[in-house]
Amino acid sequence: MRKILVTGGCGYIGSHTIIDLIENGFEPISVDNLYNSSEDSMSKVEAITGKRIFNYAVDLCDAEATHDIFRENPDIIGVIHFAALKSVGESVHHPIRYFRNNLNSLLNVVDAMTLYDVKHLIFSSSCSVYGNSSDLPVTEETPHSEAESPYARTKQMGEMILRDFCRKHNDKNSILLRYFNPAGAHSSGIIGEAPTTVASNLVPVIVETAIGKRAEVVVFGDDYDTRDGSCVRDYIHIMDLANAHTKALHYLIAGRNRSNCEAFNLGIGEGITVLEAIRAFEKATGQFLNYRIGERRKGDIAAIYSNHDRATKLLGWNPSRGIEEIMQSAWEWEKVKSKMISSIAVH
Ligand code: NAD
Ligand code: WQD
Repeated sequence: MRKILVTGGCGYIGSHTIIDLIENGFEPISVDNLYNSSEDSMSKVEAITGKRIFNYAVDLCDAEATHDIFRENPDIIGVIHFAALKSVGESVHHPIRYFRNNLNSLLNVVDAMTLYDVKHLIFSSSCSVYGNSSDLPVTEETPHSEAESPYARTKQMGEMILRDFCRKHNDKNSILLRYFNPAGAHSSGIIGEAPTTVASNLVPVIVETAIGKRAEVVVFGDDYDTRDGSCVRDYIHIMDLANAHTKALHYLIAGRNRSNCEAFNLGIGEGITVLEAIRAFEKATGQFLNYRIGERRKGDIAAIYSNHDRATKLLGWNPSRGIEEIMQSAWEWEKVKSKMISSIAVH
């Protein structure tokens, strides 16, 4: 009775979470339409854990196909819903695609949970629900400002949908996990971020520059009101983030939740500037990084970082890895990825 349906299980956070779930005695199965991933992730999970995880290559916007998965697996006790489109920039150009994918998939999942009597849901939310908050660090009580993008709005709306769903269904429990800036890779060097779309987040851009895939890192502005003028973010190691999902499941299964829809911030709780992140990369890896200061990126906020006390107190979550470990693990993974690509090119 430990079967968990992981949506978006072949993606970056989903695949790392599957490893943590297996190591903690859960039986994950995955559903991922492979829009931004491949089933190679499941081979990597197998190489690390010895367990082969089945992936349903299904689009969760297809209600019938989604229901079929629940029908075939009547022993699912909980769902971790990672599946979503996540590019902030793309969402500005294709807002309807983002609303359709991120909201329809969520609606189909909660419908199926109702029909097949699955009680526990963990939802991938985001620090972007806070918008541009001047009240730092943000706690779960910090009011949500206007969303900065359609993507962020899908997360605000997803949270609202789940609050109303839980209000109506007392027997259902949801946890809204608000991730800050997930980064880094598993310590084995076997698995890491492997999107099919072009990466634009800072840490992938840094490692891709250091390995020579990009010419330089452009620091988006050094004239913000921060300690060195570059933007401040809260980078959280992917394996610390993954473990929060396992802890959240334990919390729900043990019935320790205080209400049936609770939110938790998941960040390290420390603000790091872009220039500090670059220095941390150079220190952790001994690599020189070619960067220059550029224009501000439209839509960026100057600073955001978390207070994660609630997750520590209630979930027993204690993130332990800092920015240098993030950079080191991302770099090890980038080197492995590059070797894989060059060996494919040779054969
Ligand atoms: P990802 O793109 O690596 O993984 C998401 C997976 O969902 C992909 O493998 C994709 O193919 C799949 N997917 C998307 N739409 C689907 C659909 N309709 N049906 C089936 N599968 C579908 O992204 P990630 O970084 O692992 O993010 C996971 C979740 O965490 C997302 O909800 C994202 O919005 C959220 N999040 C991510 C970050 C981040 O910086 N990575 C930060 C905050 C929140
Ligand atoms: C980090 C910092 C950039 C690239 C996004 C989403 C957020 C959440 C996490 C999903 C910023 C700077 C970046 C580069 C740079 N995702 N930067 N040069 O924008 O904080 O957050 O991912 O929910 O919702 O908005 O992440 O990694 O893009 O940027 O200077 O080439 O690095 O300006 O300050 P961001 P990011």
